[in-house]
Amino acid sequence: MEPPVGAPMSKSDEELEIQALRRVISAYLNYPTAAEEDIRRYERSYSKLSLSHKAVLSHLPKKYEDLRRCVKTNTYFLMNMLQAFDPPFEMDGGTDSDFDEPSLFGRKTADKFMHSHEGTGCCGRDDENTIDVHSYPSPSKDSTITSANSNKRQAIESNDLDSTTDSSIPELNGFGTRGPVRSCDDWSCTQAEAEAKEHGAAAEANAYPSHDDTEYGSAYRESNENGHPIGSPKLTPYERVPLDLRHPSFQLRVPSADVDKVRCIVRNIVRDWGDEGSLEREQCYLPILEELHRLFPDRKDLRRRPTCLVPGAGLGRLACEISRLGFIAQGNEFSYYMLMCSSFILNQSDQPLEWVLHPWIHSNCNSLSDSDQLRAVYIPDLHPGSAGITEGFSMCAGDFVEVYSHPGQAGAWDSVVTCFFIDTAHNIIEYLEVIARALKPGGVWINLGPLLYHFAEAYSQEEEMSLELSLEDVKKVAAQFGLVLKKEKLIETTYTANNRSMMQNRYTAVFWTMVKEERAALHMSLSSAA
Ligand SMILES: C[S@@+](CC[C@H](N)C(=O)[O-])C[C@H]1O[C@@H](n2cnc3c(N)ncnc32)[C@H](O)[C@@H]1O
Repeated sequence: MEPPVGAPMSKSDEELEIQALRRVISAYLNYPTAAEEDIRRYERSYSKLSLSHKAVLSHLPKKYEDLRRCVKTNTYFLMNMLQAFDPPFEMDGGTDSDFDEPSLFGRKTADKFMHSHEGTGCCGRDDENTIDVHSYPSPSKDSTITSANSNKRQAIESNDLDSTTDSSIPELNGFGTRGPVRSCDDWSCTQAEAEAKEHGAAAEANAYPSHDDTEYGSAYRESNENGHPIGSPKLTPYERVPLDLRHPSFQLRVPSADVDKVRCIVRNIVRDWGDEGSLEREQCYLPILEELHRLFPDRKDLRRRPTCLVPGAGLGRLACEISRLGFIAQGNEFSYYMLMCSSFILNQSDQPLEWVLHPWIHSNCNSLSDSDQLRAVYIPDLHPGSAGITEGFSMCAGDFVEVYSHPGQAGAWDSVVTCFFIDTAHNIIEYLEVIARALKPGGVWINLGPLLYHFAEAYSQEEEMSLELSLEDVKKVAAQFGLVLKKEKLIETTYTANNRSMMQNRYTAVFWTMVKEERAALHMSLSSAA
């Protein structure tokens, strides 16, 4: 039985959350080891070549060394991200998981991660009940932190508490409010200080028990065009960060599917925050932003700013852009992989193009050249802290249906925006119902994406529900919930595509605007009473 709404999380639920989070952290920590294993595999194949064939490809050993350098660069970013992460639970100790046994982990995460928009297992559903805490820099000069939203329970509790306040702007303040974890004002450090910190950090990181001889903590930093070191030296002494990555509970050897999720996250970073992701953002996010701008022209009055909910917010860029437009935006996301990364980029970035990643190194297929495969991508293309984010921007961690089907969320939102999200549902009808219910009468739902149902191929799991409706049927169901189609078109786009690859998965995604009819609230309450 579900615990009553607003009740504190049970010990066993909390333990499950801790296990899920530990597994995600372990997956990040496994990343360099897994990458090293791949490189060794390439080297073994190379070593099997005849001498004459090797001679033709004498540059390949250097490529493998370059790949190692790129892995270190990626790892440096990921380790900084992990160290900045402030977990919502006490993470030390607790039950260790055993991946040889059928475990809840196996059911909840790895096995459910079935499908992807990118086509290679990328960033679909992972943790069902993930919980995280996000806070965002306020646009105001005094650097206060805006409302931080924590987990679904927090959101629900807060709504209970706030039942006397204006429900149009959900107040989801909770224990999650926190300031950014910082070691120093990195770019104001002298280079010598920075190097010293980096050196210290590298020493700390190298002290982790590693899965093999991969020095995943050793800080490799590259320079940008100006010779400026990329990636602020943010690794901090352990006593100043909440997470002890050396703890044995994080030294789990996770299934390779989990490490694939880390690789997917790196590609998602390009989509949302990479200089190279601008084309995809233009195709996917721009039409949504233009439509919001058209439909809500009046966003200046601070007391009546429109609200916008972004379910399945991924790494938060779309929600961030909506906030920059002048909306009180809330992203919702349930994957720890995503939440940890978006929190780091949104809260901890110091300046544009601060970090370098090599997102495309994990596939040797369809490369036009080795330099294409090894190329660097700089992130973030936009510094969120100085991007004009509207007060009230927040991320709410938790399952969309569970969080937003709470009665306190009914009629709470002026707009809902979904991008590559609705096909992540087991039961898309539930999503449509929750969206319709969460909108105010006259509120707007803008959607863009395909119908690549994430659970469509969950053949092995007989109990796994997957309802795969055609677009025609989705619209029919939406109409039943009082959502009136106002605009519809098809948009050609990609999802986390490597734009220099010989293979691109292209979507002809549907874009629509639906408006919740004024009488819909009545219909819905009647239908739920029946
Ligand atoms: C295909 S990604 C799209 C991300 C982002 N909207 C974009 O366009 O890049 C779908 C996202 O929805 C999230 N998601 C899936 N099911 C969810 C649920 N029930 N509640 C909250 N988030 C969910 C996934 O973790 C993933 O980040």
